[in-house]
Amino acid sequence: MSAITNIDPTHAKPVAEKTATKAPAKIPPRRIDFNFSAENVPRYYVGNDPFLTTFVTALSSVFPEGEFFFVESVRHYRDRVTDPALKADVSGFIGQEALHSLAHKAFNDAATVQGFQVDKLDRDIGVILRAVKRLTPPMFHLAVTACLEHYTAVFTEMLLKRDDVIELFSPEIRNLYLWHSVEENEHKNVAFDVYETVGGGYLLRAGTMIPVTVVFFAVILAFQARLLAKDGQLLNLRQNIKGFSYLFGTKGLLSNLIPQYIDWFKPNFHPSHHDTDALLDKWRNALFGENGVLTSKMMKPKSKKD
Ligand SMILES: [Fe+2]
Ligand SMILES: [Fe+2]
Repeated sequence: MSAITNIDPTHAKPVAEKTATKAPAKIPPRRIDFNFSAENVPRYYVGNDPFLTTFVTALSSVFPEGEFFFVESVRHYRDRVTDPALKADVSGFIGQEALHSLAHKAFNDAATVQGFQVDKLDRDIGVILRAVKRLTPPMFHLAVTACLEHYTAVFTEMLLKRDDVIELFSPEIRNLYLWHSVEENEHKNVAFDVYETVGGGYLLRAGTMIPVTVVFFAVILAFQARLLAKDGQLLNLRQNIKGFSYLFGTKGLLSNLIPQYIDWFKPNFHPSHHDTDALLDKWRNALFGENGVLTSKMMKPKSKKD
């Protein structure tokens, strides 16, 4: 059984539900009723393209164990956070990441049923992350988490800004990534703030980003190659070169993010320097507002009164 089943997403409730008479939670976990069945999700769900679909599936394969790692890394230091606002943010962060883990696990299970064998990738990333946890100290885990949260913030900000990209996704997968992208930007400061609060310094933060970047792309591209091979698409060179240059070419989708990525190495960097407040307002309204795309799919948290 996956370690993520140990996550308790009900951390969401104290922040999101008990504060009805206070200001709304800044980082409210939202439970969404996704439907990832084969009838609802086409096999090549990004642009009907095997390369782009397997790239996104490789990303999803690392989320359940990866986000569990984030939760554990931050939770380790939870008792050392005394500022009430940051404490509330930590609860929101744990609640959001726990629900992301579960949603991507559900997606990964559905993709495995479709023959993509995401379960094996999920198992392998679990082995890697447990080794990292065993062999390195908790402050390094927190630095890794802060680095990867920078990645997710930069990547998801791009998704929220680029209609031409998010529209490539089939509707239910678009819903998954829009929901995830909003929440990643809502909580992008938290791991960083905890890291600084408990004494994490610049050299470790900047120095950790280098191996994190190398290992992250090595893992994702290796996982993608395994998915393409299993799908009989690995030697479809024309398609794969086209997809690779769409992501990593000189004006590629991810190459364009290098300036924001490099901001991490500024000694005075803080994730809030990438201002996404207006972007978040727009998408929160579009997704969770009165007529939001996901409003009818939001599940009520369990309550003792129900
Ligand atoms: Fe997440
Ligand atoms: Fe996150």
